[in-house]
Amino acid sequence: MVERSTSPLVREGDRVLLNGWGAGERHWGCLAQCASVKAEWLVALPDGLDSRAAMGLGTAGYTAMLCVLQLERHGVRPSDGEVLVTGAAGGVGGIAIALLARRGFTVVASTGRPSEAPYLRRLGASSVIDRQELSAPGKPLMRERWAAVVDSVGSHTLANACASTRYGGVVAACGLAQGMDLPVTVAPFILRGVTLAGVDSVMAPLAVRKHAWECLAAEMDRDLLAQMSSEIGLAEAIAVAPLLLAGQVRGRTVVNVNA
Ligand SMILES: NC(=O)c1ccc[n+]([C@@H]2O[C@H](COP(=O)([O-])OP(=O)(O)OC[C@H]3O[C@@H](n4cnc5c(N)ncnc54)[C@H](OP(=O)(O)O)[C@@H]3O)[C@@H](O)[C@H]2O)c1
Repeated sequence: MVERSTSPLVREGDRVLLNGWGAGERHWGCLAQCASVKAEWLVALPDGLDSRAAMGLGTAGYTAMLCVLQLERHGVRPSDGEVLVTGAAGGVGGIAIALLARRGFTVVASTGRPSEAPYLRRLGASSVIDRQELSAPGKPLMRERWAAVVDSVGSHTLANACASTRYGGVVAACGLAQGMDLPVTVAPFILRGVTLAGVDSVMAPLAVRKHAWECLAAEMDRDLLAQMSSEIGLAEAIAVAPLLLAGQVRGRTVVNVNA
């Protein structure tokens, strides 16, 4: 909630959220109870979304929605076929599965944690594959399978996802959990007309942010969000961070800065 404002963009008492713009990266203090930030960074909390749910979604949920909106923008429809989601047990992946399933897509979840298959099916995945199928060096073109892809992993996984995307399909790339490299050839793009759509959440313009958050408020199932989120107190954040980096945290972790 805004406590004090010198900007005409926000008023005292407004309920707002902030993510991206380097907050927590270049601008420290974003786990503080109170922060002084630029008014133009703030998005009004959409109707029906409380602060807890907004941070349960967080940058991961908002990025997942930006990926889904890229598929929509490029005309991908549920009848086109299977959509692959990589990094499925992570934050972006899990929310992407829930959002795509809700829109009627058939979702295939790729994970390195087979024990999470029941969880991924609860989120809406129709089937679950082992991420090793995608993570090793592959061929320039492989059997056409995916109508679209939401990738938060990068590297060979993204290259193989492009190489196995069907003619005219779309790959939304937002992450680098496996690596920042992209050992792909031009073959999927010039022989199958595949579109590689980049997704950046950090510097996205305000209108794009507002639309994504409004879609999230309308479409994200709150029970599923609760199932994929856990809460920790501020004092636990340092201990949980390495687990997150090691890919051992499932879904989303909300830091309760008042606990
Ligand atoms: N473009 C943007 O603006 C933007 C915004 C948000 C996040 N991101 C990026 O998107 C990625 C995902 O973010 P997140 O919040 O979902 O992170 P996360 O919760 O840590 O999830 C990442 C998932 O990637 C998979 N993974 C981890 N290491 C891997 C490896 N070596 N090879 C293959 N898969 C691996 C794991 O899924 P499984 O256990 O299911 O295999 C892990 O749960 C990160 O790279 C993040 O930096 C980018």
